[in-house]
Amino acid sequence: MTAADISPAAALLDWYKAMGVDEAIEDSPVDWFAAAEKTRLAAKATPVRKSPETTPPPSEPRPGFASIAPDEAVMDAEKRAASAKTLEELEQTLSEFNGCPLKATARKMCFKRGSNNARIMLIGEGPGRDEDVQGLPFVGRAGKLLDKMLAAISLSEDDVYITNIVYWRPPGNRNPTPLEVQACLPFLNRQAELLDPDFLVLIGAPASQHLLGTTQGITKIRGAWRDCELGGKTRRALPMLHPAYLLRTPAAKRLAWRDLLTLKAALGAKE
Ligand code: URA
Repeated sequence: MTAADISPAAALLDWYKAMGVDEAIEDSPVDWFAAAEKTRLAAKATPVRKSPETTPPPSEPRPGFASIAPDEAVMDAEKRAASAKTLEELEQTLSEFNGCPLKATARKMCFKRGSNNARIMLIGEGPGRDEDVQGLPFVGRAGKLLDKMLAAISLSEDDVYITNIVYWRPPGNRNPTPLEVQACLPFLNRQAELLDPDFLVLIGAPASQHLLGTTQGITKIRGAWRDCELGGKTRRALPMLHPAYLLRTPAAKRLAWRDLLTLKAALGAKE
């Protein structure tokens, strides 16, 4: 193969990368153009009978993942979450749940990291690449920075419970969609109910906006306590800047430091 043959393929890969495509859903590639052409020719030959087998949509789920209607997924999630009496049981039943479409493209489920007796529950937007490999939330670069931020106010993994609004990695690290969040929400509610933390820390815009039901930007709402309905109670919730944002925008670290001091003050006041 010559360099001239390779460059269009390399350009296509670059384009996929730029679009956030970094997962192969199937073990072998599918030529959807060829499939479409086959269908077109078949339809031409027999115009009244289209063969559905030859026209799988590009979003065909990975074998083993039947697509479930969103309302059915939420009902199933609610039933499963309610049946769990402990956080361990909740993790087990979540692992058997197929109602969140993200599960079809993720490697591992990321349920939680930290202590089941924590007073603080931190909630992020969704696992990234490192989390997807390790099966734990916030273990990549952003997670390491989060740990340092917590250490700066004398908190360790033993003092916090860390999770996300979705339990599987959104492909290409895009934001989770409202449907994906809705499918996972019963489990998050039950996590909060079983843990019963004194404080929630909402990390980044997607978690803050979904859980507070607001479209306000994170830079507007960060650093001020809000009421958040989660796990059958109104809880105090502090929206904060996401550590991934702080890695890209170091100047914003001083705002994050202020928010950490706000959290520390609330912890001290409740002791
Ligand atoms: N970002 C998140 O919001 N959650 C993780 O678990 C990792 C990165």
